[in-house]
Amino acid sequence: MQSVAFYRDQFEEYLSSGMTDRDPKSLYDPMFYILKLGGKRLRPVLTLLSADLFGGDPKEAFRAAMAIEYFHNFSLIHDDIMDAAPLRRGKTTVHKKWDLNTGILSGDAMLIEAYRFLEPYPPKVFKDLTTLFSKTAMEVCEGQQYDIDFETQEEVSVPQYLKMIKFKTAVLVGAAMKMGAITAGASLSDQEKIYSFGLYLGVAFQLQDDYLDVFGDPKVFGKQVGGDIIENKKTYLYLKALEQGDLQQARELKDLFSIQPKKTEKKIKRVIEIYDQSGASKETKEAIAHYTNKAFDCLNTLDISQEKKEVLLTFGRDLMGRKV
Ligand code: IPE
Ligand code: IPE
Ligand code: MG
Ligand code: MG
Ligand code: MG
Repeated sequence: MQSVAFYRDQFEEYLSSGMTDRDPKSLYDPMFYILKLGGKRLRPVLTLLSADLFGGDPKEAFRAAMAIEYFHNFSLIHDDIMDAAPLRRGKTTVHKKWDLNTGILSGDAMLIEAYRFLEPYPPKVFKDLTTLFSKTAMEVCEGQQYDIDFETQEEVSVPQYLKMIKFKTAVLVGAAMKMGAITAGASLSDQEKIYSFGLYLGVAFQLQDDYLDVFGDPKVFGKQVGGDIIENKKTYLYLKALEQGDLQQARELKDLFSIQPKKTEKKIKRVIEIYDQSGASKETKEAIAHYTNKAFDCLNTLDISQEKKEVLLTFGRDLMGRKV
């Protein structure tokens, strides 16, 4: 089995080869801008690894991997509009660099391009891929809507939050893996197992994303640290702080999340203190490890060589320690 770095390089090359000048520039430039900002390429690499895992030719999975990465970048452009985010991958977000309309239309165009990558697959594979892709895309929309609704919803439970991040983030990671498996002709049972692996990994990934949004290093993280606090996102940290903190901390946190101050530094500073003192940050770290281990349990049900499993185990462990 090839390494993660090998597949990342191969994917990067494939991705760049598709970015040639097209008109109108005001539509395509923002698309290529966000794609060229880099990012971890986590999902397409997982698609290629998954194809390899099930004995397929990873070259056959490239188009599926492209579809996933285009979809992901589309969702980021629109997510940054919805979250009023100024920074993405260390650079200005599309809607800030251009404008709102550009972000909307370039995002839409990326979603359409994503589907077009799937067109050349043989009919049966095409059908399986697009069925999964559309189901996943709809779930991402549902997750994103829950995320926005929760900003102003008074009470959010931990199960509601977990369902929200499963939909907005984890299903795409699961689908990335399953699409690789489909291109490799894996059995339905193996497809489901690798989907579950991706799903749990995706939940751990979003929990880590929430954690880094608060405790990340601004120089490394590439996004506005504290952005979730500014936007009153009811993250795992927030819910656990309400649950584990004392009455005073809980009351103060609720107050802080009901206002939108002009200057946000004070709010961010105080919320971080509460997340730390209440034990919420520790709880979040534990939850990240818990869901990563659940992903590993799924992997271990697969009848594949230990050598291949190790590549994904290392990948999962590295994600837990990530700073970006
Ligand atoms: C960001 O995803 C959106 C989330 C689901 C948290 P990534 O952290 O994978 O973003 P890039 O592609 O590496 O920039
Ligand atoms: C992103 O969740 C989920 C999708 C893009 C669908 P976040 O809003 O937490 O992602 P970041 O932190 O902006 O990357
Ligand atoms: Mg966001
Ligand atoms: Mg968001
Ligand atoms: Mg985030």
